[in-house]
Amino acid sequence: MSLNYVRAFVLIVFGIIANDSIAAPPSWAYGYKTAPTKSEIVKVPACPLNARPIDCAYPATVATDGDVKRQLPNSPFSFSRYEAYFDYGPADWYPGDHPVMPDIVAKGRQKDGVRACALCHYPNGQGKMENGGLAGLPAEYILQQLSNFKNGLRHSADPRKANVNEMARIAASLTDAEAQTAANYFSSMSWRPWVRVVESKLVPSVRVTTNGLYIPLAGLPWESIGTRIIEVPEQPERTEVMRDPRSGFIAYVPPGSIAKGKAMTSTGGGRTLPCSSCHGAKLQGVGVIPGIAGRSATYIFRQLYDVQQGTRQSQIMAPIVARLSVEDMINITAYVASLKP
Ligand code: HEC
Ligand code: HEC
Repeated sequence: MSLNYVRAFVLIVFGIIANDSIAAPPSWAYGYKTAPTKSEIVKVPACPLNARPIDCAYPATVATDGDVKRQLPNSPFSFSRYEAYFDYGPADWYPGDHPVMPDIVAKGRQKDGVRACALCHYPNGQGKMENGGLAGLPAEYILQQLSNFKNGLRHSADPRKANVNEMARIAASLTDAEAQTAANYFSSMSWRPWVRVVESKLVPSVRVTTNGLYIPLAGLPWESIGTRIIEVPEQPERTEVMRDPRSGFIAYVPPGSIAKGKAMTSTGGGRTLPCSSCHGAKLQGVGVIPGIAGRSATYIFRQLYDVQQGTRQSQIMAPIVARLSVEDMINITAYVASLKP
């Protein structure tokens, strides 16, 4: 019996006993509006260790949209929504923005249900709030994380997050050569500014896509931010419908959080260590240690929280986050995401 089965079993039983929502991570960071209920957990696609990666995904909901072709500024191409999202060769709107993609990145491996890295992480490696960015990460770090996913050392604190389960099966399916090729590819690019951090008492009401992308609802009143970060695409339709790899995100954070996060990350505030001692003076990474400056706010928060819960194992980061509250992690994230990469 693998650890994942034991965890799923415990969660289901606990859900049945509690009969409503279960103890859960902050839902907003994982792309949900509420804590998981027992029926939602039962609905998570089964993802046993011998599953093909694609079988771990939520069933595809992409509409063909009558095959309407769409365009983006300064791209010579036009793609339908279906083409933009084709699992084994999704739209590459701006081939000039990145080196030539290796096959595993551009197409994945269809016969084994391995979807293209570029589908989720984009051809330029900038990725989205519900997955993460790979551009500019050290190749050795990427290989280490692929190995951790493969060996069950990294999964999500929210059992509903099917794309992390799929990511783990993808990592397990890659040959060593494919992993090395993909790591070299993504690390050869630099990380570009991608998220605008805005302190705000109010945030847009949102709907959430199956995989956890937040889409602001036009016309509804804004709601109180509370103890949350709400990250949404700058241009929702371009991100949701076209996968525009040049269009980034806005992260709304609580008023005052950036300054509090700055104080905490520079001194440790008695509860942690200064991040710069390992991640570099500007938190842009050093050697095999990844840069964290200017990356997706919800991604950063999820990593801090997952490490604290132990679902992402890291001997080095675990003591750093052990004594932090959710609010501390929000403040730290607000500051780190606001930095220039
Ligand atoms: C179905 C979407 C999907 C596909 C396809 C996909 N990934 Fe991922 N990837 C994810 C998600 C989701 C995460 C983790 C997000 C989290 O932990 O919150 C992730 C995380 C990662 C990380 C960790 C990044 C970090 O900063 O630690 C690496 C490395 C990675 N993916 C590499 C790849 C490679 C290489 C491929 C192609 C062979 C690939 N991914 C394909 C969804 C995907
Ligand atoms: C003692 C060294 C050390 C310190 C101090 C440290 N980190 Fe890290 N951090 C690491 C290492 C090494 C990794 C990557 C490997 C791993 O996960 O074990 C990492 C990974 C991370 C990641 C995941 C990056 C990704 O792409 O998924 C985040 C986020 C992070 N650190 C945030 C912070 C923050 C915020 C601070 C300060 C509060 C901090 N770290 C302090 C060493 C450190």
